[in-house]
Amino acid sequence: MTIDYLIKPGGKLTGRIRVPGDKSISHRSVMLGSLAQGTTAVTGLLEGEDVLSTLAAFRAMGVAAEGPSGGRLVIHGVGLRGLKAPAHPLDMGNSGTAMRLMAGILAGQPFDTELTGDSSLTKRPMGRAADPLRTMGAALTTSEGGRPPLKIKGGVKLRGIDYRLPVASAQVKSCLLFAGLYAEGETAVTEPAPTRDHTERMLRGFGYRVQTRGARVSLHGGGTLTAGNIDVPADISSATFFLVGASIAPGSDLVIEHVGINPTRTGVLNILKLMGANLELLNPREVGGEPVADIRVRAASLHGIRIPEDQVPLAIDEFPALFIAAACAEGETVLTGAHELRVKESDRIAVMAQGLQQLGIDARETADGIIIKGGRLQGGEINSHGDHRIAMAFAMAGLVASGPVTVRDCKNVDTSFPGFVELAARTGLAIQTVKN
Ligand code: S3P
Repeated sequence: MTIDYLIKPGGKLTGRIRVPGDKSISHRSVMLGSLAQGTTAVTGLLEGEDVLSTLAAFRAMGVAAEGPSGGRLVIHGVGLRGLKAPAHPLDMGNSGTAMRLMAGILAGQPFDTELTGDSSLTKRPMGRAADPLRTMGAALTTSEGGRPPLKIKGGVKLRGIDYRLPVASAQVKSCLLFAGLYAEGETAVTEPAPTRDHTERMLRGFGYRVQTRGARVSLHGGGTLTAGNIDVPADISSATFFLVGASIAPGSDLVIEHVGINPTRTGVLNILKLMGANLELLNPREVGGEPVADIRVRAASLHGIRIPEDQVPLAIDEFPALFIAAACAEGETVLTGAHELRVKESDRIAVMAQGLQQLGIDARETADGIIIKGGRLQGGEINSHGDHRIAMAFAMAGLVASGPVTVRDCKNVDTSFPGFVELAARTGLAIQTVKN
């Protein structure tokens, strides 16, 4: 079965909503909760397919957990050395995060494992994680060109390394820090630009000593993780579709509650503000070591900008939606330094350029970015290429198109945003699902 979205133009986004839990924090909650000593109670967990893949993997390795239901999950940790050999390969579905972070954990186990994924994930580069893991002494093989499946041999001795990341990647940083929990001595990672720091924050929350000195993060192997409770904030990456939708649809006035505003994730707010968006952070507070706020967004006239390159890693998942904002802005928006977008769930530069052109917008790909001239969006048909964020971005474009927009292949929206259609419809988007 495939799922398409049909969006009728017009409408504005209003009211108060809460979007599902943060995907990065939810993955890490399941991982650290499983590896901790004691019981971890999680609230606000994202019950998307990606996180469920991670949970299924730990259950297959002997971890008992109740839920998830209504965002609640109780995990009975088995300790860093308590996992058991799974009876079958672990299927990470669509999730690059799950595969790369799990690779770090599994490299330190006494048993063999294999990590597989869906047709999108099996095209994505794993060498960036596998290569430094090998330097740590891990024994793992990938398929041709560093692609999945990943076969990881157990029972090897890991030793710490001092690694300089060639690309800014929180996934690779986290993978190596997780392997470092099992390694002899110090494991250190230096990043070329700041990336999301949830792993560091959460390890500390679980009582593990992690040092951060400028761009270098390090820890020593051999410690223990102590279970605690986790309140997962709403995902700013999911909120982004509504921030863009409300910015471009005249008359919109929307509040999105309890959104994680960790400074390593707020590139989207900075970029939208530079474009002239009307955003207000209400009631900023801290919840379980992560800053959160309610965000009020009202319609505004946006203008094109040159996106500062230092914002790229801080908004890496938000570009499909930001490109829709750029298409509705006056003037040209130029993105550079974003080659990473080509190796996400789809080649997001190529797929977004194609889709925007389909809707009559002048969008030109460059090697590491895109140039978008704002204009009037027409109706039309878009292929999301099975990429959840492309699907949701074009759904919001439908608000201001001159005719209906059909978005094909939207099933994977469930990987990160279950209930998107219902929530979007409740705020005022005229969206319908068509099952084929
Ligand atoms: C993530 C890191 C990012 C992001 C992904 C989630 C994480 O990937 O795109 O959706 O949870 O660590 P990279 O760090 O590879 O850019």
